[in-house]
Formats: sequence, structure tokens, C-alpha cells
Amino acid sequence: MEEETLERLLDAANEACSHSYSPYSNFAVGAAVLAASGRIYSGTNVENASYGATICAERVAVVKAVSEGENKILAIAVYTPSASLAFPCGMCLQVLSEFAEDIPVILADEGGMKTYRLYELLPHRFGEQ
Ligand code: THU
Repeated sequence: MEEETLERLLDAANEACSHSYSPYSNFAVGAAVLAASGRIYSGTNVENASYGATICAERVAVVKAVSEGENKILAIAVYTPSASLAFPCGMCLQVLSEFAEDIPVILADEGGMKTYRLYELLPHRFGEQ
């Protein structure tokens, strides 16, 4: 991925994180996906008083992209303003894998960033043949 695209992806994840609605966990997450069209879609975690109706940042970003007509995701960045990286949860990895192949999963925190591959984090997905 080009350096400029990576920067735009990280900026979008960071910006989305600033809109986090997380009064219950106080854990803010921002995510951004790069779609095949070249457009970037961001999302943040939106919690709920019922707890269970909470939606993670990564799934917000994916459903925003798909809702706009995208069906192929080329990369995802996830940002948390904490001292350690936050890995996407299993549900988010499964949802992401519906629209992505072995894409880069870029994790960033206050200290830096590290890139993983989707299949490294989710070696087998439900639905695979
Ligand atoms: N969260 C995410 O946004 N992404 C994940 O992959 C895991 C967890 C959110 C959900 C909740 O608002 C908060 O982090 C604490 O679990």
C-alpha cells in the first residue's frame, strides 16, 4: 500500500475514534477500511445501555462500506488511544473476512503501529470450503 494511502487510513481511524460512544467501557476504538474503489470508510464503537447491543468500530466501518455499494475491502486500520494494541474481536474478523481476502490489518496505538495479515488473526473462518 502506498505511504499516502496508509496515512489516510490511519488518520481516518484516528478521527473516527474521537467520535467513540463508549460511556460504559471507556474504551474508544476507531477503524477505517480501504475499499476496492479507493474510498475509505471509517467507524467507531457505539455502545448501548443493554451492553449486548454494542457494535464494534470495525463492523461499523465494514457495514458503512458495504451499504455504499462496496463489496471488496483491501485493508483495515484500527486505532486505540491506549498503551497497547487492540486486536479486532472474533466477530469483527468473521464479518471482515466476508468481504476481504488475506488483507493487511494495521493496528495502531499511542506508541506506534504493527501490521498483521487477516489470515494470521483468523486462520479459519466459518463458511470456508
Ligand atoms: N471493541 C471494538 O470496537 N472492536 C473490537 O474489535 C473489540 C472491542 C469495543 C466494543 C466496546 O465498546 C469496547 O471496545 C470494549 O469492549
